[in-house]
Amino acid sequence: MALDAEKIRADFPLLQTQKIVYFDSACTTLKPRAVIDAERKYYEEMSGCAGRSAHTLAKRTDEAFVGAREKIAKFVGAKADEVIFTKNTTEALNLVIRSFDYSQRKKIVTTQLEHHSALLPIMEQQRRGVAKMELLKTNSDGTFDESSIVSTIDRSTALVVVHHTTNTTGMRSPLERIIKIAHENGAAVLVDGAQGVPHSKVDFRKLGADFLAFSGHKMLGPTGIGCLVGKTEALEKLDTYIVGGETIETVKLNEVKWKKAPKRFEAGIQNYAGAIGLGAACDYLSKIGMQNVEEHEKKMGKKLIEAIQSISGSTIYGTSDSTKRSSLCSFNLNKVPHHQVALMCDSLSKIALRSGTFCAQPAMESLGAPNGAVRASLYLYNTEKEIETFRETLGKIAKLG
Ligand code: ALA
Repeated sequence: MALDAEKIRADFPLLQTQKIVYFDSACTTLKPRAVIDAERKYYEEMSGCAGRSAHTLAKRTDEAFVGAREKIAKFVGAKADEVIFTKNTTEALNLVIRSFDYSQRKKIVTTQLEHHSALLPIMEQQRRGVAKMELLKTNSDGTFDESSIVSTIDRSTALVVVHHTTNTTGMRSPLERIIKIAHENGAAVLVDGAQGVPHSKVDFRKLGADFLAFSGHKMLGPTGIGCLVGKTEALEKLDTYIVGGETIETVKLNEVKWKKAPKRFEAGIQNYAGAIGLGAACDYLSKIGMQNVEEHEKKMGKKLIEAIQSISGSTIYGTSDSTKRSSLCSFNLNKVPHHQVALMCDSLSKIALRSGTFCAQPAMESLGAPNGAVRASLYLYNTEKEIETFRETLGKIAKLG
């Protein structure tokens, strides 16, 4: 059954208390009451440390933390011990890129469309002389030059780092093909799922990637919690990253016996409230059904593109084929600077947008907007009525230019 956005809106306290058109979900999403309540429940009823103390509160925390990991694993089609809690996608990407073994192969293949959180750790590994970065070719409309997948990924490739969906155009990468070619060449694949996991059904097993990173706050969950999902054998090959309490079996001053993943990578007290909140977000999205979320976004994405195209002097970045996007669109108006468009949308109609280069400067440059753009990014709580308000407001702003 199709998703009822009006009904869904009632679950979001912020949409009840503030008259706002929230079109900035690629940055961070609003949170439903179920997620806020789950976080509060941790602080009000548990407030302990998992896996350490023996008292009742600690036991409750442990159970809830284990439960959250299981829910998240199920949501992305992984096993619980393949899910490592991190602060966010950025930390998950850094974890793999920094602790991967480049002793036999040095090449990391990626694209200019990646977020800085993927590009910068790769560039840092190159600066240190640990690895060498090579780019797959992408075109100015955000599509891939597929022939470069075969010509770039070869037997010297250690790791391929690529987005599921970009944060600048909402377009998907040809992931399945990239994973196939990478594996044929013995390379591992790390997928940046920050903009994919919240908007479509991503099944880690079916996808076949070695690693998948995503953030909680972009999928209705709390800020400060994210995940790295990794195949057990791929996680075993990673070096340690942040080390400390709970990552070890035994420590002698001259010898350390590490725990297996996920514990080997979860040093120190964890964000229990965040993990429990993310578990609740997975429950919430599962109940609605990711297929329904995706269909709603396709519908909204089409209306969004049509609305922006109807404004004279507008330029859309990436393909204008809405079937190839999530409900996200970056654009410019030819006479009004991007920050001003966003500020005016906020002041005239309380429309929340993001403007700038979206932590993806090389991507924006390759798409033809090196100085930045305005971005509207929608989610399951957005409606056609809001898109109409957006269109009317943009029309007014365009006339001012
Ligand atoms: N990656 C986030 C965005 O695209 C912050 O807005």
